[in-house]
Amino acid sequence: MYDLNAIRAEFPILSREVNGKPLVYLDNGASAQKPQVVIDAVTRGYAEEYANVHRGLHYLSNLATDKYEAVRGIVARFLGAPSEDEIIFNSGTTEGINMVAYSWAGPRMQAGDEIILSVMEHHANIVPWHFLRERQGVVLKWVDTDATGALDADKVIAAIGPKTKLIAITQLSNVLGTQVDVKRICAAAREKGVAVLVDGSQGAVHAPVNVSDIGCDFYAITGHKLYGPSGSGAIYVTRERMEEMRPFMGGGDMIREVSKDAVSYNDPPMKFEAGTPGIVQTIGLGAALEYLMELGMDNVAAHEADLASYASARLTGLNWLGLQGTTADKAAIFSFTMQGAAHAHDISTILDKKGVAVRAGHHCAQPLMQHLGVNATCRASFGLYNTREEVDKLVEALELAHNLLG
Ligand code: ALA
Repeated sequence: MYDLNAIRAEFPILSREVNGKPLVYLDNGASAQKPQVVIDAVTRGYAEEYANVHRGLHYLSNLATDKYEAVRGIVARFLGAPSEDEIIFNSGTTEGINMVAYSWAGPRMQAGDEIILSVMEHHANIVPWHFLRERQGVVLKWVDTDATGALDADKVIAAIGPKTKLIAITQLSNVLGTQVDVKRICAAAREKGVAVLVDGSQGAVHAPVNVSDIGCDFYAITGHKLYGPSGSGAIYVTRERMEEMRPFMGGGDMIREVSKDAVSYNDPPMKFEAGTPGIVQTIGLGAALEYLMELGMDNVAAHEADLASYASARLTGLNWLGLQGTTADKAAIFSFTMQGAAHAHDISTILDKKGVAVRAGHHCAQPLMQHLGVNATCRASFGLYNTREEVDKLVEALELAHNLLG
């Protein structure tokens, strides 16, 4: 059973007040709050089990290494990856995608080769490809969303041409909550020999993921959105693509031997993990993913689907609210503007006075803002601990903002 009160009690921050009001935390798309098991894992990691990993032969180093390396298997299980050797640790999706751009795409793309992107990508899945455009003449091909914010997988597939080398696409829009049929895109891309990178920053948070079933080449996740520590993350890379990748950053741990005039590299995935990693952050990520698997991502998805349909009904009832993204199966992420000149920042400031935390701005998705014809939106993004009552509080606070600004 999904015991929401018990779940909420596991997140200490949810019982605090903000501006004299109970916190209504609806900024989960930006970063999620942490359950006590994650806080405990991080505290224990520093207080009792800390040393550098892969380097020492002493007790604490071996202990920290075992704890850290065990997370590779946890991430593989969470993502349905065939092997833990296909998991590379990093600081989050931004690093993961930059690594693919530098280590895999850059060396195999010529001027005129194409990367297909959707217009609703996050900057983390745009700017690394702009680097290749600027430096190597790679062409970025954009696929638009329709008026409801839906992205037609057939349009993405139709954009594949003889020069397409990669499709880099989100599984779930951080602004619109739109879900993308990445499995269908991967199947078509595979037939044409095109690789697919899936940005799972949001997708992995809201529903079960199975990368083997999706059939993607790369799948990136960020720990802090998955109720884990900031600075943690991982990317799934198929063995085949990993073999094709040149090293990313150089440094300790990623080498086998270094001399004055030669260097040889460690086996993947270590080949792509230079320097002292986020040891305790990664251990905390493991605790977060185990927590989610214990809760059951199916249950999380069902709870959030209920919140999404309740919030959709309540927010569409406000005829002065301009909702962006209205697909039937959208995730519980709601971006909106308000009729009149009310700026998103002003709306969010009023909401904050009521204890309601939302994000306002371009959400690191400026091409989407341009496509929608807005400068900024407010965004309420729900998580596994949010309640219908919190939807009501959001609506109440929005009514106040409308009275003051509308
Ligand atoms: N990517 C994060 C967001 O959507 C920061 O807010």
